Amino acid sequence: MAKIIGGIGTSHIPAIGIAMDKGLEGTPYWKDFFSGYVPVRKWLHSENPEIAIVFYNDHGLEMFLDKKPTFAIGAAPQYHNADEGWGIKPIPPVTGETELSWHIINELVEHDFDPLVCQEMNVDHGLTVPLSLMYPGHNYQQIKVIPVCINCERHPMPKPSRCYALGQAIGRAVASFGGDQKVVVLGTGGLSHQLDGERAGFLNTEFDYECLDKIVTDPEALTRYSNEDLVEIAGAQGVELNMWLAMRGCLLGEVCEQFRSLVAPISNTAAGLQLLVNR
Ligand code: DHB
Ligand code: FE
Repeated sequence: MAKIIGGIGTSHIPAIGIAMDKGLEGTPYWKDFFSGYVPVRKWLHSENPEIAIVFYNDHGLEMFLDKKPTFAIGAAPQYHNADEGWGIKPIPPVTGETELSWHIINELVEHDFDPLVCQEMNVDHGLTVPLSLMYPGHNYQQIKVIPVCINCERHPMPKPSRCYALGQAIGRAVASFGGDQKVVVLGTGGLSHQLDGERAGFLNTEFDYECLDKIVTDPEALTRYSNEDLVEIAGAQGVELNMWLAMRGCLLGEVCEQFRSLVAPISNTAAGLQLLVNR
């Protein structure tokens, strides 16, 4: 049986990619942010999972407003970066995983989730920045990635409770897979932020800390918020919390928090990081 060994919630701000490209990790602005990734990378290095399921949102590069799937899942052998990335240099493609991907797709449809299935898909910073953070030097090609894309850009968006339930369904699908692979799950984006409009720059770190606590002890409490609540409390892009909820939903065992950090602001965002181990 394939096993989900843990989950990681992480920011996906494009400026992180530029900071890594320019070697700015140790500068006063960035050092607290990047120091959080040291223990997370160490855990990944020692556990060495073969597969990563990555919950992210497409910011309009592959899935624009005219065709917007609520949920999409990749079943491609490779994914190319299509992000504008604020001037990031070209980066290597992401390695896909097709066998477990198709198993998850079949199980999701069987259990009344009906995602868009993508045998070709470009990915953006929501997926690539976290991978580059986990595997410095864009050295992520050894891990096989299953991208799961959640609409957080245009209404109607899937509810937090639905995103959590999607994660639970994927967690059960992985547990029913015949392989013996180690799988890590990532939820990218968040935490509180608003990029435009009258409240551009809005953050709510008090709520972010509450989210970090509740993700460990009582994720279902967070699923009782509506997306409208999240926009109000955490900013228009604060709904990216839904990716963290999907990640948490996959962890069906007893969950232990091994690390957290919150650095705010990084760019326009309260940058959260959390490592959860699934016992
Ligand atoms: C920023 C944050 C995001 O989540 C994003 O998708 C793009 C930019 C930012 O804070 O700069
Ligand atoms: Fe984003």
